Parts: sequence; structure tokens; C-alpha cells
Amino acid sequence: MDSALVIGGTRFIGRHLVNDLLGNDYDVTIFNRGNHDNPFADTEGVTHFEGDRTNDSALEAAKSEVSPDIVIDCVAYEPHEVRAATEIFADVDGYVYISSGSAYATEVIPKRENETELCDCTPEQATDDSHDSYGPRKAEGDRAIFEAAERGVNAMSVRPCIVYGPHDYTERLDFWLDRVNEYDRLLVPSDGQNLWHRAYVEDVASALRIVAEEGEPGESYNVGDRQLVTMDEMLGLIADAFETDVELVHASDRELSTAGLSVDDYILYRDYPHVLDTSKLASLGWESTPVAEAMERTVAEHLESERDGSEHDPGRESEERVLGVLDTI
Ligand SMILES: NC(=O)c1ccc[n+]([C@@H]2O[C@H](COP(=O)([O-])OP(=O)(O)OC[C@H]3O[C@@H](n4cnc5c(N)ncnc54)[C@H](OP(=O)(O)O)[C@@H]3O)[C@@H](O)[C@H]2O)c1
Repeated sequence: MDSALVIGGTRFIGRHLVNDLLGNDYDVTIFNRGNHDNPFADTEGVTHFEGDRTNDSALEAAKSEVSPDIVIDCVAYEPHEVRAATEIFADVDGYVYISSGSAYATEVIPKRENETELCDCTPEQATDDSHDSYGPRKAEGDRAIFEAAERGVNAMSVRPCIVYGPHDYTERLDFWLDRVNEYDRLLVPSDGQNLWHRAYVEDVASALRIVAEEGEPGESYNVGDRQLVTMDEMLGLIADAFETDVELVHASDRELSTAGLSVDDYILYRDYPHVLDTSKLASLGWESTPVAEAMERTVAEHLESERDGSEHDPGRESEERVLGVLDTI
């Protein structure tokens, strides 16, 4: 049986990855600080190694204890962490770094791995933990992967777009799930045709394993749902999964401004489409879950959870005012 070391592993992507690896006959060790509950505490085939990934000796100790065949790195947020990990795990069969679709610098449709420019990263950005430097830091991590592969390391990266599904602690989609579940009329920013590519979390998990097994060293692989849906279509899928109907009321920026709102107040709204080409990953044999099925599983777990996405709420009272204004037009 092959062994996998997952750096992270207890929250969202890593949690689904552990399940995917178990289902594909891996012995799994999760490496984390133990600050979050371990959902695999009683799961056969999963061992916990406590350590902080910012401490190289802890990663070295995990390596000598586990001798992993593959390593999947869920928590590299600064490029020096990728450089250290590719040194420590230089002789494994596959090391996969989770990068991001945010690593792309230019707005083109679609963003392609070997064509679309990556963000630059200044030395200051490389170690600051702000939201603004997230894309540059992820891109610099990708460059660390390319350099490691030049030295003969079996290192690859995976670039997910926005990830959704069960246990999503960002609660981005939960905001819309809650809206559909609670209201009959929904205010939708702009014309509902905006595209922000999303990736179902179980498909991100399988992508990470498949890239570790089949990927080419020094290559990056985008991951996102093969069927890309607009915001209106996403809301339709959510309504179907709740077995309900909702009326979608579109509001322009000018109409929203009557109640002090703007299109940018809405989570998962983005003016310019963000679309990733996923054909390179598909050529390795990866497939994505049909979107209706992915949404049904997402809704089922949302209902069991206490998440409501309220941190992303632009304010229902203001929305009611906009709906009132639109009714009079
Ligand atoms: N969600 C998205 O839409 C999206 C999109 C693109 C890319 N990504 C990337 O996906 C990755 C995040 O995935 P996730 O949070 O879902 O993964 P996860 O592996 O399920 O959860 C994060 C894990 O990392 C551990 N951890 C955090 N800091 C650590 C440290 N210093 N040392 C050791 N362990 C540490 C946490 O446990 P402890 O706190 O107990 O240590 C937890 O187990 C990131 O690389 C992010 O950039 C996410």
C-alpha cells in the first residue's frame, strides 16, 4: 500500500483529500498543529503527526517517520515554504503544492497553465500575509515548483478556482444557499450572467491525487468544474437542490446604489469572467462531478451545518428597499 503525507488535512480541501486517498488505497498521515478538530481521529488508515509546517525540522521528522510516496501540501502560503518542502521531500514520487487561480496576472478567457502570465512577487510581498499579495505569493510558489523540477524533484502544482462543497469554512456559497433557502425573491447583482469559475471540492481532492500520481514534474494543472455556470444558473441549481423555486430580481449598480449597495458587495460576483482551462488536467484522466450532483451534496451538508454565510450579507433591509424601488418601475 502506498503512503501519502497530507500537510494540513482537517478542514476543507485537505479533509476531502484524505477521504479520496483512503478510497484509493493509501495509508494517510496528516501533518498539522492540532489546532482544529481532527475528523479522522477514529478513522483506520489515518495517522496524525503533530507539527508546524513553518518548522523545517518538524517536516523532516514527519518524512523520516512516514517515508511517504506522495506529499500533498495544502498549507503553503509563502513561497519559501514551497522551497523548503521541495528540498525536504526531494526524493518522493510526487509532491503537489496547492497554488490558486489567483496566481494568474492577466484577465483573459480562459486562463491557461502554459500561456497566461503569472503574477510577479516582490520580496516584500513574498512574506506579507495580506489578501493583496495572495496571488503573487501563490505564483512565486509555482515558480519554486518549476525550479525544483529543474533539479530533478517530482514537484507539481494544482491551481483551483473558487472551491465549494461540504465543510467550506469560507461560507461564500453558504450565503447564497441561505438566501435561496430563506427567501422567495432574490436580489441578484447585475444581469446574473457573470462567470466566476468554481471547483467542487471532491474534484479538487481527486485532482491533487491524480496529479501526484500522473502529473509531469514542473507542470501546473488548473482545476474547476468542467461545466461552468453563470450566477443565475448557479442559483437555479441551488433551488433545484432545495426542491424550491425562487424569483431572481436583477439589479444594476445604479439600482443597488439607491439603498447604498453596490454589485461588489455581493460574494461570488465579479465583473470580468474568471475562467480556467481544465483540459490539461482532464488529459490525465480526471473528471468532474456533474454540477447538479455536486450542488445536492453541498446543500445536504449545508443543512446539517450551522453555516449561513451571514458574514457576506450586504444587508437584507437594504435589499428590501431596492426590491421595493424595482417594483415601482
Ligand atoms: N478555498 C478555496 O476556494 C481555495 C482556492 C484556491 C486555493 N486554495 C488553497 O487551498 C489551501 C487551503 O486548503 P484548506 O484550508 O481547505 O486545507 P485543509 O488541509 O483542509 O485545512 C487546513 C489545514 O492546515 C493546518 N494548518 C494550518 N496552518 C498550519 C501550519 N502552520 N502547520 C501545519 N498545519 C497547519 C490546519 O490545521 P491546524 O490549524 O490544526 O494546524 C488544517 O488542518 C490553501 O493552500 C489555499 O491557498 C483554496
